[in-house]
Amino acid sequence: MSGFVEKPKPAQVPGLVHLHTGKVRDLYRDDAGNLVMVASDRISAYDWVLPTEIPDKGRILTQLSLWWFDLLADLAPHHVVSAEVPAGAPADWAGRTLICRDLDMVPVECVARGYLTGSGLAEYRESRTVCGLALPEGLEDGSELPSPIFTPATKAEVGEHDENVSYEEVARRVGAETAAMLRQLTLAVYSRARDIARERGILLADTKFEFGFAKGEAGAAGLVLADEVLTPDSSRFWPADTWQPGRAQPSFDKQYVRDWLTSPASGWDRHGTTPPPELPAEVVERTRAKYVEAYERLTGTKWA
Ligand SMILES: Nc1ncnc2c1ncn2[C@@H]1O[C@H](COP(=O)(O)OP(=O)(O)O)[C@@H](O)[C@H]1O
Ligand SMILES: [Mg+2]
Repeated sequence: MSGFVEKPKPAQVPGLVHLHTGKVRDLYRDDAGNLVMVASDRISAYDWVLPTEIPDKGRILTQLSLWWFDLLADLAPHHVVSAEVPAGAPADWAGRTLICRDLDMVPVECVARGYLTGSGLAEYRESRTVCGLALPEGLEDGSELPSPIFTPATKAEVGEHDENVSYEEVARRVGAETAAMLRQLTLAVYSRARDIARERGILLADTKFEFGFAKGEAGAAGLVLADEVLTPDSSRFWPADTWQPGRAQPSFDKQYVRDWLTSPASGWDRHGTTPPPELPAEVVERTRAKYVEAYERLTGTKWA
């Protein structure tokens, strides 16, 4: 079982048409035909959107994405038009709303990995490959890879797992030219971000990007960087000073939530049919603090 514990209702805003409720973001279209992306404080774990929110999370993700989009603009055009809140929208939308170009999304999760962990590690242990790419012997959980790799996945619906696929499979699905461009952009943006994060004491282990085409422009040259970028929800950030391959690394994300959900304290069985319970206040506060810390360490500015 998986999905939303409680599916949220969209807001009624004059001039906006509700399009989609994602795990974290609510999407609307405005009068000008732009996409209005509102990042909620929802948090997902184990393919569930939990019933408890993490205060400020959506604002942190939005502000961090904006900060990165700016730093990456010379490598890849991005989808943000403005961060203005549409007239008549709930006051709570401030800081969590982005007006974006409405793109034809490429149905590929463009993952770059500089370190081995998670589903990459699982495949490596089976076959010494990740997404079919051969890797050297002797790597462990958390090892740095000889160079960053493009490890695409197919995008799943809410409640489903993403599935790693080979580069050849991506090329079959989207065409060779687009696949090559996705790989090149993904690795270029990852490498820039990895270097920036490293200067700030954070290892960018891996991250996921989504790209889209401007409507009616399907040429690979028209790819635009979309969605959120380089946030704790789309990336694994590890503190550099405690990095130690050979074990799971502490990270700036949902670790407390996952640990609590799988502990006896939660009373929840992630393989059962019952939805996950509300999070205790302490888990909420510690998780919020992790998101704030990631924002502050990366941007070098205080979270207001
Ligand atoms: N510029 C864009 N144009 C159209 N769709 C977009 C754009 N940027 C992001 N998206 C889509 O908006 C949704 C974002 O909501 P989110 O809650 O993150 O969804 P998900 O549950 O798929 O992760 C995703 O489906 C993403 O593919
Ligand atoms: Mg998403």
